[in-house]
Amino acid sequence: MAEEKNGRRDFFGAMLGTWAAIGGLGALYAAKRTWDPLPSVKAAGFTTIDLSDCGEDELRTEMWRGKPVFVMKVGKNNPSYDDKRLIRIGEERFFIAVGLCTHLGCIPTYFPDKKKFVCPCHGGQFDAAGRVLKAPPPKPLEIPPFKIDGSKLVLGEEGEEYKKMKAEKLV
Ligand code: FES
Repeated sequence: MAEEKNGRRDFFGAMLGTWAAIGGLGALYAAKRTWDPLPSVKAAGFTTIDLSDCGEDELRTEMWRGKPVFVMKVGKNNPSYDDKRLIRIGEERFFIAVGLCTHLGCIPTYFPDKKKFVCPCHGGQFDAAGRVLKAPPPKPLEIPPFKIDGSKLVLGEEGEEYKKMKAEKLV
């Protein structure tokens, strides 16, 4: 009789231990899921943009890490065409910049006929290379880290061209 009781106690003890172990693993798994970044956040680190279908002077706005990024192919008739802040891919020149005014963060509007950006908040102006034409913005539009991969642009990665611009203090 006592042996039967001990056997039952061992059985319940083992079951309790198993349940505790499962519970512990479940809690660890839940904690890991909480700490890990969401898949959408991981994917948001890099944005790949195909530049092959960009039209001249047509501003595109992409999203990168929650910020608007301006992308535009700059034509030869644009006064900014030879600016070193433009990215060269073969014979073509591209302007990329975070689309937030460096004064207080409003989104400037591009006027293709005037080849410049005008900020709707306090009238600041930038040329098609993002340089300040009119205050109050204190500095040019920010060029985000990028890498050129054929005709694609990868935002969020520091490629050779970006590092070169950085060394020349253009970004
Ligand atoms: S926020 Fe652009 S000029 Fe002030």
